[in-house]
Amino acid sequence: MDSIIVRGNGPLHGQIPIAGAKNACLALMPATLLSEEPLTLTNAPRLSDIRTMTELLASLGAEVTGLQDGKVLATSCHGEITPVADYDIVRKMRASNLVLGPLLARLGHAVVSLPGGCAIGARPMDIHIDALSALGAEIELKDGYLHAQALGGLRGALHEMRFASVGATENFLMAAVLAKGTSVLKNAAREPEIVDLARCLRAMGAEIEGEGSSTITIQGVDRLHGATHPVVTDRIELGTYMLAPAICGGEVECLGGKIELVESFCEKLDAAGVSVEETATGLKVKRKNGRIRAVDVVTEPFPGFPTDLQAQMMALLATAEGTSVLEEKIFENRFMHAPELMRMGARIEVQGGQATVHGVEKLKGARVMATDLRASVSLILAGLAAEGETVVSRVYHLDRGYERVEEKLGAVGAKIERVKGE
Ligand code: EPU
Repeated sequence: MDSIIVRGNGPLHGQIPIAGAKNACLALMPATLLSEEPLTLTNAPRLSDIRTMTELLASLGAEVTGLQDGKVLATSCHGEITPVADYDIVRKMRASNLVLGPLLARLGHAVVSLPGGCAIGARPMDIHIDALSALGAEIELKDGYLHAQALGGLRGALHEMRFASVGATENFLMAAVLAKGTSVLKNAAREPEIVDLARCLRAMGAEIEGEGSSTITIQGVDRLHGATHPVVTDRIELGTYMLAPAICGGEVECLGGKIELVESFCEKLDAAGVSVEETATGLKVKRKNGRIRAVDVVTEPFPGFPTDLQAQMMALLATAEGTSVLEEKIFENRFMHAPELMRMGARIEVQGGQATVHGVEKLKGARVMATDLRASVSLILAGLAAEGETVVSRVYHLDRGYERVEEKLGAVGAKIERVKGE
């Protein structure tokens, strides 16, 4: 397994290009199942999770080809579809459950493995099941698989979700676009990835209104056609790289970044003593004078502070002046990075869903282990600010969501290298 070695050094300067969003692309790719005509996604990120989704779609009968430097994904689903998402693929990546809605819409039936839990929480599927059942699907659990069918097709309905789940909103949208009649989803997730999916579906001929608000209205149509759609900028990759100059000093422009994608995060950066300026090409970030100040953070659904930036923010606050409290409200077990940061000298107490971080003057390099995607990048950020060498092992988690991290950080002056393992 590969490791990443980071040596703490001085300020960073330059530009970092931000890729298309992993979590948008993972929802956009299954939309190809909704049409016989090709769907082309531009600005797609080069990540192992995207390769896993490619493998899943291929196993269902879709053709997926990567073109031009891997940034364009052409998908097509004109032949016979096998509506079974196998456990061996689904267990690797939870987002595989996003084929459930489109398969039901296109074929009227689907068999999709339950993903099981993961390092950050139990992550059940009840909200997806309730949302698709509201559209007339009958869903049963047999041998670890969800067997879903809608005899006579899906029917539009009004449904309110008990929690604004991102994945359930995406499954509902992709099912409702081909349902008979009008569907209204209340307490819908408002994340930019949902807005991106709705735009792509509209480009394919769907009738959708209200995306980005908590009520989305969908008028079902008979068929969808092909389209070309650019994947929205990755707001989590953006926020992660914005933290690099905040931790190390210097000034970095994140190309393609926009405040509207990371507004609540920018408010916390401002309070911590980091300035963010919107330019014509992206977001320029630098630390204001002096040491980072402690701030309290509560993770919430969009537009609140994203859970996917909590680990990285903790790395910043580990060196702040004062005590910060981070409250995790989305995933019950998302503090696995805290004990690893503590190996680097951070002072953190975790109690249930709360982590209290007492800032220290300086972190110290250590051997640490990545436990999930965002945890792994938080350890790299911490390593950039630490004295000496930090070795982050099990970085396959990192490759799921960050393309060429060592090149991007190396280009702005970080001392970072990948060591290949068996
Ligand atoms: N939940 C349920 N029942 C459900 C669905 C969700 O209880 O049927 C719970 C989950 O267990 C969790 C909370 O609701 O506690 C939020 O889950 P949500 O469904 O909103 O998340 P998701 O769709 O599974 C996406 C991202 C995650 C990101 C979350 C929250 C993708 C592929 N994944 O997951 O991204 O953390 O939304 O914003 O879009 C990551 O990229 O590192 C990552 C984990």
